[in-house]
Amino acid sequence: MPQDASDAARVGKDVHCHRRRESENGVSMAKPDRSLLRVERLEMGYRRPDRWLPVLDGVSFEVEGGEFVCLVGPSGCGKTTLLRLVAGLERPTSGRVLLDGVEVDRPSRSVGIVFQEPTLMGWRTVEANVALPLEVNRTPRGKALRRARALLELVGLSGFEETYPAQLSGGMAQRVALARALVHDPRVLLLDEPFGALDALTRERMALELLRIWRARRKTVVMVTHSVPEAVFLADRVLVLGPRPASVVAQVEVDLPRPRTAEVMGTVSFAAPARQIREALNRAASSP
Ligand SMILES: Nc1ncnc2c1ncn2[C@@H]1O[C@H](COP(=O)(O)OP(=O)(O)OP(=O)(O)O)[C@@H](O)[C@H]1O
Ligand SMILES: [Mg+2]
Repeated sequence: MPQDASDAARVGKDVHCHRRRESENGVSMAKPDRSLLRVERLEMGYRRPDRWLPVLDGVSFEVEGGEFVCLVGPSGCGKTTLLRLVAGLERPTSGRVLLDGVEVDRPSRSVGIVFQEPTLMGWRTVEANVALPLEVNRTPRGKALRRARALLELVGLSGFEETYPAQLSGGMAQRVALARALVHDPRVLLLDEPFGALDALTRERMALELLRIWRARRKTVVMVTHSVPEAVFLADRVLVLGPRPASVVAQVEVDLPRPRTAEVMGTVSFAAPARQIREALNRAASSP
């Protein structure tokens, strides 16, 4: 995908212009200047047969246009629920999500989502899976397939257009899901542990690919991951969620230069934010 140098420079500038401040416990807090996404005091729960299960307890944060934000938190704390609310797939009990100042109350083309499982349709070819959201919107088939092929090239799957999902590896299937999430050229890309089921090496390669796509397409990304090193490697800022019912217990800014390569993982600048995230997770787990 051709990309002019001034675009790349703008991306770099956009994502590093937070006003910084230090919190009491030394965790670096980033306050975006221009937020594309605002999550305001979200509360959410599920009705169980015997009781009400509170899941989110006043989650608030902002994400700037072009920023890459990772969400980490203990299993079952409400991360998927939070992404589904941001995508407009669920409605909160209270609070709201604003995208460019407009309340999100239903799914929209401005937000693309990749779920933990690729959820591809086995009877459709790879290109037909990617083109599906366009076909649903009555885009002519030829145009939809051309767009699907361009996105498959972007995610490194040229040559697999007419393959069926059963013939793909896990990493390839996730690339297809990523291409499908990009099909409406969304402003915000939500990723729910997209590499959770992959082996360590594939996962590392996918992380590098994701950074390449993020830079090329100038997306705003909010990604859930269980891996602290993965969060630090990818993100400009990591939001740490506490146990259910979740709230944001810390925001850790990752001030590593871009573009990032795997070598950065051995540096002191990498270890420091990783330690802050682990400490925040441990503090939240042990507080009553
Ligand atoms: N549709 C639902 N109906 C009832 N309870 C639900 C529903 N979806 C999620 N839950 C419950 O809400 C809580 C939060 O679930 P959620 O999937 O958001 O957590 P998570 O942080 O994404 O977990 P994980 O890290 O394991 O993916 C869990 O206790 C889960 O059982
Ligand atoms: Mg989840």
